Order: sequence, then C-alpha cells, then structure tokens
Amino acid sequence: MLSTAIAAHAPLRVPIELGDRSYNILIGASLIDDPASYEGLPKGGSALIVTNETVAPLYLARLQARLQARHRQVHSVVLPDGERHKEWGTLQKIFDALLAAGCDRKTVLYALGGGVVGDMTGFAAACFMRGVAFVQVPTTLLAQVDSSVGGKTGINHPLGKNMVGAFHQPLRVLCDLDVLRSLPTRELSAGLAEIIKYGPIADMAFFDWIESNIDALRRLDGHALARAVQRSCEIKAAVVSSDEREAGLRAILNFGHTFGHAIEAGMGYGAWLHGEAVGCGMVMAARLSQAVGLVDATLVDRIRRLVERAGLPVVAPVLDAHNNTQRYLELMRLDKKAEGGEIRFVLIDGPGKAVLRAVPDTVVAQVIAQSCQGA
Ligand code: NAD
Ligand code: GLY
Repeated sequence: MLSTAIAAHAPLRVPIELGDRSYNILIGASLIDDPASYEGLPKGGSALIVTNETVAPLYLARLQARLQARHRQVHSVVLPDGERHKEWGTLQKIFDALLAAGCDRKTVLYALGGGVVGDMTGFAAACFMRGVAFVQVPTTLLAQVDSSVGGKTGINHPLGKNMVGAFHQPLRVLCDLDVLRSLPTRELSAGLAEIIKYGPIADMAFFDWIESNIDALRRLDGHALARAVQRSCEIKAAVVSSDEREAGLRAILNFGHTFGHAIEAGMGYGAWLHGEAVGCGMVMAARLSQAVGLVDATLVDRIRRLVERAGLPVVAPVLDAHNNTQRYLELMRLDKKAEGGEIRFVLIDGPGKAVLRAVPDTVVAQVIAQSCQGA
C-alpha cells in the first residue's frame, strides 16, 4: 500500500468532457478492490477481462472478485506480454475469447494492464459487434498518465507504430496507484517520460514541480505520484476534450514521439520501451526547436537533464550504420502527422507552448547526428 494519507482520502477525479461520451478518471489507492470505483458502470450481463501473462498473476483475481459481484459471467483472456505482440494475431485472441464465451453487445471489456493491453482491448471493443463498452484499469505509470486516457486504440504494423486502430473512449479509467509498486524500475522511468512531456508543451509550473519531485516519484512517494498522475490527466483531459480526433491541438501530445516512434520501429518493437524512446525523442525534439530558433539552450538542457534524472536514455541509437539519417527520415515519414511525405514535428515554441511544424531535412539531419553522438 502507498501512504495511508492517500488511502484515507476519496479518489481524485478528473473528468473528460466529451458530450455523451464523457467519463471520469479516478486516481487513488486500492481502487481495484473498492466497490465504489465501479458505481454507475454497466452490470448484470457479462464482462471480459483482458490482461497479460505478467499482470494476471498479480491483479486478475482481485478484479475478477470485484466484477463477480456485479456481473452474471466474468470471463478473462490472458495475452502474451510485450510490444511485439501488439498485432493482429494477439488481437484475434480477444475476439476468440469473446465469441467462445458467447459474449454479446452488452458485454463490457476490462483492460487490466499497461498501454499494450489497453490499446488492444480498446481496439477490440471498438470492433467487436461494431462497438461495445470498455473500462481501462491501467497498471503502468505510462498507461495511467497517458495511454488509458483519450480513446486512442490500436495495434502496430511492421512498417509503423500504431498504424491500425480506432478512436473509442472508455467508460471509466481506474488508476489504482498501489499497483505501481510491482512495476520494474525501467517501466517506471518509461512512465516518467510521458509525465515530463506535459511540462514543455502545456505547463512549465508542472515541469518545475517535476524537477523538484523527480526523486520522490522514482521512490514511489504516494503524494507525489497522486499529484503527477492527476496533473498529467488534467492536461491530457483538457487537450482531448477540445480536440478528440486530433484535428490539430491534440498533436502536441506527441512531443518527442516522431523521433521516438522511429527509434522504436528502427530498433525493433520492444528493444527500447515506448517511454524510453519518447524520453530520448523529447531531447531530440527540444534540440530541433532550438535549431529553428524557437527556444534557447537553457530549456533544452533542462529537458535533457530531467529526462536523464528520470533514468531514461538521452543518447539516440544508431538505426543504420551506413545511412543513419536516411533511416530516421524514412521511418519518420511514416508518422501519422506527416502530410504528403512531409514530416511535421511537435516543437517547443517557448516554455509551456507547443507548435506543429515541418523542418528542412538538413536541419533534422544535424539534430540526428548531434543526438546519436550524445553531444
Ligand atoms: P506495456 O503495456 O508493455 O507494459 C510494460 C510492462 O510492464 C509489460 O511487461 C507489462 O506486462 C508490465 N506490467 C504492467 N503493469 C505491471 C505492474 N503493475 N507490475 C508489474 N509489471 C507490470 O507498456 P506501457 O509502457 O504501459 O505502454 C506502452 C504502449 O502504450 C505502447 O504500445 C504505446 O504505443 C502505447 N501508448 C498508447 C497511447 C494512447 O494514447 N493510446 C499513449 C501512449 C502510449
Ligand atoms: N498519446 C497521444 C495522444 O493520446 O494523443
């Protein structure tokens, strides 16, 4: 259990305003076990819990126990673990389980796991019988502060990350802070990357706060975690509420992701964690912002130091020993923000403000070279 002070309080609640698809993110200790976490969600019919082989032994029985008190039938499917399994064959296992269990349009899916499980469960919910309800129970820090919120769901394609998917909002997000206790250190750091992201793009006061609290976050201080998850979700909720389908503003949430997705795909999914690639990608995007004259070296250096203090890599990997720049550019042209083959980057346009912009390849090449050398 995290600190008793957190446990004693009612969960924090962050609303996402999306008309008839609005929902709440609940943040607190022991939420999985608390019947109040489920109040107002559908009950009676069947539920399918989707999880993976790592999370199942830790938390599946607890979620099952809660849902059995609400649903006539509670089924589960345990997927293989890992980013490389975020693909068609694994998705098919969810449909197999739904159909084998005789599930119907009233079935509610529960995603119990990190972003991989959450993205696949959401996509399965979007597709099964043309759309059924689902609830996110994120068990990684990254999933609590980012992937479980906002309704982006999907799978990877060998040629590009998250290339096949749908927008499908959950009914609720339950961020149980206690489950973060079992998270490996490397995964915790990966989650910190997505928390750090919110500072430069939206709230420099939050960035200052993270700088002061990074050590507390790394040792899982309950108050610091609750604050970090809450503020991250508030920022994401505000962005998603005003631009659900990424017509414009929502793209800022992809700060560091254009370089990051290239690193993930170029290294082979799973070699670098998503959050690690995003952490390094943010340093590269900050350098690019400096290279085009939007920010000064001080801000770039603060971002680089915080990413490093979070336990994340700041030296970019070489993706191709012979033609590294071309390989990065080729992978980044597959980014969903690219238009007509022109890569568009999320850049920092002064502290706490982001902008989406194309940059000449020559300038991008300089930043890639500088970042791969760790200059
Ligand atoms: P992950 O889902 O692979 O989880 C990381 C590892 O932690 C896995 O091995 C998992 O089994 C394990 N794990 C999960 N919870 C645990 C716990 N409580 N204790 C111990 N081990 C635990 O990775 P992730 O970082 O959570 O998510 C990354 C994925 O999220 C990527 O596929 C990325 O594309 C996606 N993502 C999606 C969005 C979105 O908006 N949909 C946003 C950001 C990232
Ligand atoms: N993680 C980026 C988004 O949700 O838009």
